[in-house]
Amino acid sequence: MNDIATLTKDLDLARIPAHVAIIMDGNGRWARQRAMMRSEGHAEGVNSVNRITRFSSDLGIKYLTLYAFSTENWKRPQAEVDALMHLIGWTIRKETPDLVKNNVKIHLLGEIERLPESVRQDLEAGREATEHCTGLNLNICLSYSSRWELTNAARKLAEKVKRGELSPEDITEESIQAELSTADIPDPDLLIRTGGEERISNFLLWQCAYSELYFTPVLWPDFDNEAFVEALRSFQNRERRFGMTSDQVKANDNPHNTID
Ligand code: IPE
Ligand code: IPE
Ligand code: MG
Repeated sequence: MNDIATLTKDLDLARIPAHVAIIMDGNGRWARQRAMMRSEGHAEGVNSVNRITRFSSDLGIKYLTLYAFSTENWKRPQAEVDALMHLIGWTIRKETPDLVKNNVKIHLLGEIERLPESVRQDLEAGREATEHCTGLNLNICLSYSSRWELTNAARKLAEKVKRGELSPEDITEESIQAELSTADIPDPDLLIRTGGEERISNFLLWQCAYSELYFTPVLWPDFDNEAFVEALRSFQNRERRFGMTSDQVKANDNPHNTID
């Protein structure tokens, strides 16, 4: 009944966003509503990760960027951090064969050095096993924050200037972009946040300059393919103007028209 053709019947499959980024929020509330432990909410959230990754791959999305653990999340109670780290390692070990089968390539974004050694090994093994894959690029953000990333980029550029490899006048948007963990990745077209909060929480601040934002009250463990299609539908109903006028955008869409 809910096969991909039925689910996507209202979508323009030629205009699926190339890059979707998701702030996966609401696991704790999902658990609390059921009198369960927060860690059980995170475990349930993994099912959503698997489902949305698979569906994104089937839809032909090229980049899916998931905010799994922020720099600020290190401030959570140690027991929750430990449970999350354990879950991350376990999930990557368990899911790697399926990711390979589905031609999904893993990229790791963030201060991975801060993660426990065993989890880093699991992540690295997953990354290596999928290195040859050419389908969906799955960017997993762990111990990631945008301010960390931008601070890092500033430091790397300053080092280049100090070594005499770069002059300050040559610092451009492109040279900053080149020092980000998303250097080779196009900016997100669509940024989704589940869980009802309408904030960015230090995620991809540079890269989301022109992303379409979509906030939904659906908690991450409940975010199913239908909810994802709704976000894509909303995206397809918007006009991305990038500072231009609506008329200009329409003219650009139609090669026979000229821009005023
Ligand atoms: C998102 O769910 C997962 C992580 C931040 C790791 P939360 O754990 O933030 O869930 P809520 O916001 O408390 O419901
Ligand atoms: C954002 O969720 C981080 C991730 C989803 C990994 P949080 O739950 O940590 O965000 P805040 O604290 O409510 O802003
Ligand atoms: Mg939260």
